[in-house]
Parts: sequence; structure tokens; C-alpha cells
Amino acid sequence: MSVPGGIVILDFGSQFTQLIARRIREQEVFSAVLPCSASLDDVRAYHPSGIVLSGGPNSVYDPAAPVCDPRVLELGLPVLGICYGMQWITHTLGGKVTPAKRREYGPAVIDLSSENGQAGSVLFQGLPRKLNIWNSHGDHVQSLPAGFQVTGRTENALAAAEDTARRIYAVEFHPEVRHTDRGTDILRNFVFGICAAKPNWSGQAFIHETVEAIQRRVGARPALCALSGGVDSAVAAVLVHRALGPRLTNVFVDTGLLRKDEFRTTLELLRDRMHLKVIGVDASQRFLAALKGVTDPEEKRRRIGRGFIEVFADEARKLGEIGFLVQGTLYPDVIESVSVRGPSQTIKTHHNVGGLPADLPFQLVEPLRDLFKDEVRRIGRELGLPEEMLTKHPFPGPGLAVRMLGEFTPEGLDTLRDADAIVVEEIRRAGLYEKVWQAFAVLLPVRSVGVMGDERHYGWTIAVRVVESEDAMTADWSRLPADVLERISTRIVNEVRGVTRVVYDISSKPPSTIEWE
Ligand code: XMP
Repeated sequence: MSVPGGIVILDFGSQFTQLIARRIREQEVFSAVLPCSASLDDVRAYHPSGIVLSGGPNSVYDPAAPVCDPRVLELGLPVLGICYGMQWITHTLGGKVTPAKRREYGPAVIDLSSENGQAGSVLFQGLPRKLNIWNSHGDHVQSLPAGFQVTGRTENALAAAEDTARRIYAVEFHPEVRHTDRGTDILRNFVFGICAAKPNWSGQAFIHETVEAIQRRVGARPALCALSGGVDSAVAAVLVHRALGPRLTNVFVDTGLLRKDEFRTTLELLRDRMHLKVIGVDASQRFLAALKGVTDPEEKRRRIGRGFIEVFADEARKLGEIGFLVQGTLYPDVIESVSVRGPSQTIKTHHNVGGLPADLPFQLVEPLRDLFKDEVRRIGRELGLPEEMLTKHPFPGPGLAVRMLGEFTPEGLDTLRDADAIVVEEIRRAGLYEKVWQAFAVLLPVRSVGVMGDERHYGWTIAVRVVESEDAMTADWSRLPADVLERISTRIVNEVRGVTRVVYDISSKPPSTIEWE
């Protein structure tokens, strides 16, 4: 999947590498993330108009510090080094990088004043002289390689530099994160002002490229798609359906862990409105039996992952020879689960990918693996999916099992499902469903005293979690109007048996996560 004239990003392992790619795609310019170890031929194969070297968690002096082929700096293409990328360029070209006395993490102010009365950097064209930026680094550039000039400083450090003759640019902060003011303008200046990249990348181009790539890979063989009921797998299914037509069979499993009425309503949507060939499998008893009494969240995920694979293997056997399993895995699922493309660090094993056993009887087809949720929604809209499907809130693959903290019980599941339905209903009624990222209930293994009528009750606690987010990499709790919170709380206590207390979660991500387990 590539279009000439785009940008190649070489990944040194930062959590934000795909965010750089996404900010470039927002400019309708193609971008590909390659591991930093990619060969020069791999890079050239994309016919890029420029190269970005990402950040990364290492010091250039670590014995296992990731490196690029230094000849990427001699291809004659403009290069932008970000954070570790800047330090690697400095180190490689003969400058000096030193461990900082104080790690610079979080916000800072950069001064972009030009030196010696010369014009400021093209990279910062149109920007004010002082800018709020966001840092995350331990080492500093102490002295620059020959030919480089300083183009920006923070209070503590030399924060930006360039060698215009060689067209090498470097910043020590992260222009790709939202906390850097005008960060997108900096990337845009690089992409258009310096690289003269072509804005010829669009949703339609992605669809076209992806359909062709799937046809090449799968050929005339049949494939099975695992539908979760959510937007990601639905978009993946429609894309693969475009590529394979009737050779794609979709399976939608009722794990017994879905939201209230989710299985029935989604099956109708998939079959009647999206015209997909879908086998609906009721495997709820199997999943509930496998989970009974399990407390550890990772163990819950593993058992559910195993259950899914067993169900799909059964269905595949019934259908005959099937070598490919289509999944709607997105980039945030990948980055938080396993290190795939480059040396990006693992945060925790979870998501669709985390539960899969190593000896998978299928090859995976994951057409959305490089995208973020809002990009997938945009692609889905271009593919003509119904809005009901496109606006659905994300829901974890392991479903309500990871929203019931502590021991899994069938009774707890009923309580949670009823409370969750009230949260969603009230958020919809308040016209907030499409404004918030997710709204759901969590059942806590905490009992407290309540008085109902004249009687004392020792009941369970429901936590309500409503967050706003752009891509689930970061999130903030939603400042819901008090009357909405009040209606949610009153209805849960009145309508859901056994619950006597409702609390509202006011944690942001980071440091918390969106889900509780
Ligand atoms: P966290 O809790 O990591 O969640 O902030 C980020 C986004 O991912 C969803 N999520 C999951 N999705 N399997 C999934 O398919 C999982 O195990 C899982 N855990 C979290 C979560 O709902 C949020 O949108």
C-alpha cells in the first residue's frame, strides 16, 4: 500500500510514531512507518519525498540503542529528526549528546528567535516566536555537528536545529502530540514547505490500495471475518468483502458478554442494512463456563481469546478450507499490546491481539492495523456504512467480563448489563452519545450500606465512566451536567437489583486507563 511522493517514517520506538503518520495523513499525504532497521532499498521502494526519524525511549549510548542505516542522511531527501531522532542524527554526524541533569518531561516553552539576524527556520514559518511544546527525553544535544545551526531553545536546552544545505532538520520536542501548540503546522511546513510532498492520499486511495493488497495476498482462497459488533471489524469486513466478494464469510459470536440487546440488533444491522453474509453463533454458555470464578483480568482475556479462536476454528471446519482470519485490529490495539513494526515498547497485553494463542490455525488479515479510530470511521463513511454502526462507542473484545472487577459471576454480569444499559440510554437521551468517546458502567466488588424504604441494604457499587478522547491514546473524564448524572444514579439504584451506590470516575488517561481492568 503506497503512493509515491509521501513520507517514510523510520520508527525508533516512540509511543507516538503512528501519531506522526496520522498527522501527515491528515494533510492527505501518504505516510508509511518502517522499523528503523529498514534497508535503504526498503525506504527507496516508497519513492518518498522526505523522511522522518521518530522519537524513542533509548539513549543513543545504550548498548541496544536502535540505529538507522546512516546513509538515510545521504539520500538527498529532506530528513526531520524528532526527539531521539534528533539525538541519533547529532550522534551520527559528529555532534555531542549528553545525559541531561534533569529529565525534561511535559510542557516547556521554546524560543524560535533566529540567530545572527538571519531569517527563522522554514520549519517554523508562520509561527509565533514563543511556543508551548511538549517534551519527553532524558538526553540532550550539547553540541551540534558541523554545518548545523540552532533554530530553537528552551530554558534548559537546545531544542531545534537544522543544516539547510543537507536539508536535515531536527527538533527535540514532539510536534505530533496535541500538547505542542501548532505542532501540526510544524509537520505541515516540513511536509509541504521542505519536502514538497504531494497531497494525493485520501480515504478512497486507502480503500483502493487496501482492496488490491488483500486480493494479492488472499488470492482466490476463502476467508473468515471475526465480527465483534463494533465499527472496526465492520469496516474491515466491508473492505475485505469488496476484495473477495462471496469468498468472505463473517462470524459474529454471542459471548454472553455483550451489552444489552447488542447481539440481536447488531446482527440485524450487519445482515439487513450492510448485506454481509453473517453466521451468528450463540456461544454464551461456553464463555460463561470458562470464566466462572476467574478473577485475574489477564486470565479473563486469555480465556476469552481462546474461546474466540475455538469458535472460529469450529466454524471454519464447517465451511471447509479457510486459511485467513480477518480482524478489525487498530493501531492503538497494536501499540498497547505487542511490539510489531519497530522497537515500540509494550504497555500491557490486551486488546484483540493480546488473547490470541501463538499456534493460530489462520493467517491474520488486519487491513486497519495502521489506523486510528476516527480514521476508521471516516473510511467506513466512505464505504457507505450506516451511521448507527459508525457512531457506536468502542467496546472491548472481552466485553463486560473486564468491566466486572474481581471474580466473574453470572449474577454480577446481569447487574452490570442492566446498569450499563441505563448509562447509555441516559447519555443518548441527553444528546451526548456522539459527543463522548465512551460511556459505560463498571461493577465494583465493593459493598456498602444503603437504606431503601426503611430497610438497610448491603449492596454493590456501580462506577460510571464517561470519557472524551480523540483516539483512546489519551482521554479525559467528561464533565457531565449534574442532572444527567443524577438521572443515571437514581435510575440505577431504583431499577437494578442489588446496587445501592453509584460513583463517577474522574480519572484521566494517563495515568489511568479508560477501562478498569
Ligand atoms: P484503555 O483501557 O487501555 O482502552 O485505556 C483504550 C481503548 O481500548 C478499548 N479496550 C479494549 N479493546 N480488547 C479490546 O478489543 C481489550 O481487551 C480492550 N481493553 C480496552 C477500550 O474500551 C478503549 O476504547
